[in-house]
Amino acid sequence: MEKIILTGDRPTGKLHLGHYVGSLRRRVELQNSGMFDKIYVMIADAQALTDNADNPEKVRQNVIEVALDYLSVGLDPEKTTIFIQSQVPELAELAFYYMNLVTVSRVQRNPTVKTEIKMRNFEQSIPVGFFCYPVSQASDITAFKATTVPVGDDQAPMIELTREIVARFNNIYGPTLVEPEIMLPENAACHRLPGTDGKAKMSKSLGNCIYLSDTPKDMAKKVKSMYTDPLHLNISDPGHLEGNTPFIYLDAFCRPEHFAKYLPEYESLDALKEHYTRGGLGDGTVKKFLINILDEELTPLRERRAYYEKNIPAVYDILKEGSRKAREAAARTLDEVRAAMKINYFDDPALIAEQAAKYAAK
Ligand code: TRP
Repeated sequence: MEKIILTGDRPTGKLHLGHYVGSLRRRVELQNSGMFDKIYVMIADAQALTDNADNPEKVRQNVIEVALDYLSVGLDPEKTTIFIQSQVPELAELAFYYMNLVTVSRVQRNPTVKTEIKMRNFEQSIPVGFFCYPVSQASDITAFKATTVPVGDDQAPMIELTREIVARFNNIYGPTLVEPEIMLPENAACHRLPGTDGKAKMSKSLGNCIYLSDTPKDMAKKVKSMYTDPLHLNISDPGHLEGNTPFIYLDAFCRPEHFAKYLPEYESLDALKEHYTRGGLGDGTVKKFLINILDEELTPLRERRAYYEKNIPAVYDILKEGSRKAREAAARTLDEVRAAMKINYFDDPALIAEQAAKYAAK
């Protein structure tokens, strides 16, 4: 069986370092590993519209932002099919059929949807489309017969639901669809990078994000303002690592060779942490070290972004070609789905012959 990846993001904002350590960095590794036959990365504009119906301009602007983020991290259109969800209408058709295989109470139990409903104060006014997005996500995945879905743990309920839908579909209509596996981030620090204010998650509304598109100056400014340890008032005071944002970022980004390059007084992250905890190490030193590491990590991204920003029409061409390829693949699955569901009236000569014979015998 072919090994196929599908994953994606809602274009509701620029992508930030949390996305980078949580998913983007890994996608590029997977792309370059040669272990997968096909890789699809989707800009989920239709899903973004499920709770932004009144703000189409926001979604439209962020489609290109996210595309630039993808290309700048090193997703390569020669190896990865980057496409826009709405440009593959087969996905909507598939979702329409899957809705018959899922109960309302099943969707109501989805913990991620529950949290999102609370966050958006939707309790009394949930758009039907938003409520159903987990079902549409099952279409995104199965239309490409994806075997592997690399996502954060908040997406686990969607993959679970997808597997249930696949099992149900294959059981009723015959083996047609592929059950996907979730692929979670490996490193614990990557599960969730906190915002610069130390809050659990980077979010645009909290203003605590470091964006991949930030200039080196803006990024340095944000690192310098990071929340550390409020009890660490003097350099000589013992410091605490728990909830200490720069150290959490170091867990996600620091590699042994960074010490020789930027902070040769220490030989490892453990040694640095030990000194901080003991007292005598200032936040400024830690932050400067982190800035150096982030600059090194982000330099190739910044170069690629600068190139694509000068070639915006080419970026749209990449998305158009990706969407064309994605549509071809989804259309193949839809043909199989329609045949399995017995709604392929015009592609089935046996059906016509059978009906003709039935009425001839009358
Ligand atoms: N729900 C995902 C997010 O919040 C985006 C998404 C839509 C997705 N369809 C998908 C992710 C299919 C993986 C597979 O960003």
